[in-house]
Amino acid sequence: MKIQTARALPCSAALVAAGLLLTACGSSGSDSGQQAGNASFEGRGPITFVAGKDSTGVVQAALDRWNELHPEEKVTFVQLPTDADSQRQQMIQNAETKSDAYTVLSLDVVWTSEFAAHQWIDRLPENRFPLQKMLRPVVETAKYRGNLYAAPGSSDGGMLYYRTDLLKKAGITEPPATWSEMTADCARVKKLPEAGDMSCYAGQFQKYEGLTVNFAEAVHSAGGQVADADGKPDVDTPEARKGLDFLAGSVEDGTIPKEAITYQEEDGRQAFEAGKLIFHRNWPYVYSLAQKSKVAGKFAVAPLPGLNGPGSSSLGGHNLALSSFAKNKATALDFMKFFSSEDSASTFLKDASLAPPYADLYDDASLVEQYPYLPVLKESILRAVPRPRVVQYGDVTSAIQREAYAALAGGKSSAQALKDLQAALQKSAAQ
Ligand code: GLC
Repeated sequence: MKIQTARALPCSAALVAAGLLLTACGSSGSDSGQQAGNASFEGRGPITFVAGKDSTGVVQAALDRWNELHPEEKVTFVQLPTDADSQRQQMIQNAETKSDAYTVLSLDVVWTSEFAAHQWIDRLPENRFPLQKMLRPVVETAKYRGNLYAAPGSSDGGMLYYRTDLLKKAGITEPPATWSEMTADCARVKKLPEAGDMSCYAGQFQKYEGLTVNFAEAVHSAGGQVADADGKPDVDTPEARKGLDFLAGSVEDGTIPKEAITYQEEDGRQAFEAGKLIFHRNWPYVYSLAQKSKVAGKFAVAPLPGLNGPGSSSLGGHNLALSSFAKNKATALDFMKFFSSEDSASTFLKDASLAPPYADLYDDASLVEQYPYLPVLKESILRAVPRPRVVQYGDVTSAIQREAYAALAGGKSSAQALKDLQAALQKSAAQ
């Protein structure tokens, strides 16, 4: 298998800064853009919207608004499992059988290259979406080889949720900026009678896409990288090792509780809401749900901590892509425009704290007053590092998951896990 770059354009400084290409910039690859660019968006009638299970409830509410206005072009919500890997599997199966069961796909930002290169999704007309109003790194996630393959939906940046009440009681005035400050804060908080049984920190450490996210964050937050500026795997380094050591060492010394190696997003959220965690790494959707939980009014968010100062998040999010095998594509395009509009994004932000792609929503003073996490979130997204933008993303993420999990749970040393990961990524890049 030949690795295909995310874009056929020459390596620009901005691209290098924004993305990790696991191959040299400018190398060749097949461009499905031309054919898909000629796709005709015809046909009106019922369609489906396919996404992971919606824990916020805002998706069906938006579909209801659309369905009321378009009784002849109703959208049915097809809910897939919560974890990203199962969603990807089901979407790929649907595409491989050329089924028309799925129309509009809520595509994780890391799958754009793979789905576009296989011509499982149509290239979209850029002039149908107000891309110039959106955050640039978010728009980039919807492109493959310079062409648009998805409408930016909701973005995602990891944040550090922390218990303001407990930190304050322990005499701590600022959230931690580094991992060692975080563990020192935990030691102080745990001396409080009500916090003795709490655990210090958890993110997403089960063997699935969330672990790839958390691993990449730890590596980047220690000054390492998964691949170098030319896209070559570069993870067997002292910096990356410090990142993985932080995660593995924290599991070992109990800073991260043992059960957290089974956590996906929802498990961590529930633990934080139940008052079991002092610090928790999660996405913005948790903010709104936690405000309705037992820790309401007792938490805030801060940038993710790192080795020597604030760390950086992995860039997450979901975009709306159109299955190449779908019917009623004219309806689908209109629906995508509606669902990705600034109006919808603003509703998703207010009702479910989903990160909008629209830049101005982060700077609106009245919104910031009501949703004080917005500046932290904007910063998290703008500083976020994309995961590798490669066609064979499945191979890359399973190698990361396997080796990171072995270091966290399987007794492999960080040094060995990174050595093995480097070899696996190199092998995949050479195929
Ligand atoms: C969130 C992010 C997505 C990421 C996933 C991992 O859904 O938006 O990009 O892959 O979490 O669990």
